[in-house]
Amino acid sequence: MVIDRRAGLAVGRTGALPLLLALVMSAAAVPAAAQGSSVKAWVAPERAARRPNPLAKTPEVVKRGESLFRRDCAQCHGPSGHGDGPQAATLQPAPADLSSARVQSQTDGALFWKMSQGRGMMPAAALSDGDKWAVVHFLRSLPTPR
Ligand code: HEC
Repeated sequence: MVIDRRAGLAVGRTGALPLLLALVMSAAAVPAAAQGSSVKAWVAPERAARRPNPLAKTPEVVKRGESLFRRDCAQCHGPSGHGDGPQAATLQPAPADLSSARVQSQTDGALFWKMSQGRGMMPAAALSDGDKWAVVHFLRSLPTPR
């Protein structure tokens, strides 16, 4: 009985330290988990964002941008850019609504840079620079958010 109680106490004492450590560590882990990639803002570097679109916005260029968008982007972003393409449901974070004020307020250079870089489940666009700038022009003609 006595031995049992001591053993119990010993377990109780040594058991307290790991428990305390576990508590401290889980408390520290909470902020790290809260900053998951889904909530981390995606901001283009200032230099890239300042790059002007070298293409004149002609109806032909916008049309070229549109057909490239339908071929390479709409499966995720949806035909009107609302982030509702057939593949959207499988993506985390969800593909952005490209017609939203948050996206439309970004410069042509910033959108070009994000298209070129990709992030997470968004692949870097396999397009020439000229084609990417044409897609940017098309993005400006997307219908407004639903
Ligand atoms: C396989 C799906 C997929 C394809 C294809 C795709 N995107 Fe995306 N896109 C995403 C996802 C997912 C995000 C969100 C990424 C993030 O925030 O980490 C995103 C984000 C973006 C953003 C950033 C919006 C913001 O938050 O500022 C732009 C711009 C964009 N996509 C444009 C395009 C264009 C243009 C194409 C075609 C050339 C394209 N995407 C192709 C999935 C895709």
